[in-house]
Amino acid sequence: MSEAAVGVFDSGVGGLSVLGEIRTRLPAETLLYIADSGHVPYGEKSPDYIVQRCYVMADFLLAQGCKALVLACNTATVAAVAQLRARYPTLPIVGMEPAVKPAAAATRNGRVGVLATTGTLKSGKFAALLDRFANDVQVFTQPCPGLVERIEAGQLHDATTRALLQGYLRPLLEQGCDTLILGCTHYPFLKPLLAELLPADIRLIDTGAAVARQLERLLAADGLLAAGPAGPTHCWSSGSRFVFEQVLPQLYGDSTLVHDFEK
Ligand code: DGL
Repeated sequence: MSEAAVGVFDSGVGGLSVLGEIRTRLPAETLLYIADSGHVPYGEKSPDYIVQRCYVMADFLLAQGCKALVLACNTATVAAVAQLRARYPTLPIVGMEPAVKPAAAATRNGRVGVLATTGTLKSGKFAALLDRFANDVQVFTQPCPGLVERIEAGQLHDATTRALLQGYLRPLLEQGCDTLILGCTHYPFLKPLLAELLPADIRLIDTGAAVARQLERLLAADGLLAAGPAGPTHCWSSGSRFVFEQVLPQLYGDSTLVHDFEK
């Protein structure tokens, strides 16, 4: 048993979709979350830049005594999870990747679309994922520049976001995809809009719940699960605290303590 916190971070508010799953699955844990919104979007940045940002955030979270880290960001995982594991060899670290395997199992017509950042889609790790799990299906990829910024601003349902998303969905629908992977942790916040824009029989696959289960497995294996009453959530943002506090209630239901992250 351990009362130490779990540290979670993302390029911005997207990882709150994962934090919500972790909070539901592991209510007793103390959760520390960093939104690196001062440096968002990672999807258009170099892997080296992302690795350096991940070091800054991971070092900060470990200085707070965290017992495990979750990279609640597909783009950061493909760029930096190997380096983080090398830097902290004994620490439980959970990363996340687009859910190619479950999507390949779910598709009925063998046509899968992936919405993700440019950085994720052009990474070697994503290519390896396709080699491993997508041999029997056709995969169509769609980078979505600009979408993350809409979500950072809390604009989940306005005309600009709708037009942008529609433009990104169109090629995948034209290819006849019946299953779409939400390969960026910001995108689950667009599910209500996606439900309006997509035919009802299209399946959406994301990985937040699987990440929470994997975290639980790792903590349990090391005897690190917290027990007792509901744990608090603390959040830091490297971007505008005002904007973060504005969007937080619609993205994360828990009552949360917000701090500035000036690194
Ligand atoms: N939320 C991130 C992901 O899961 C990336 C968003 C970005 O900063 O481009 O990929």
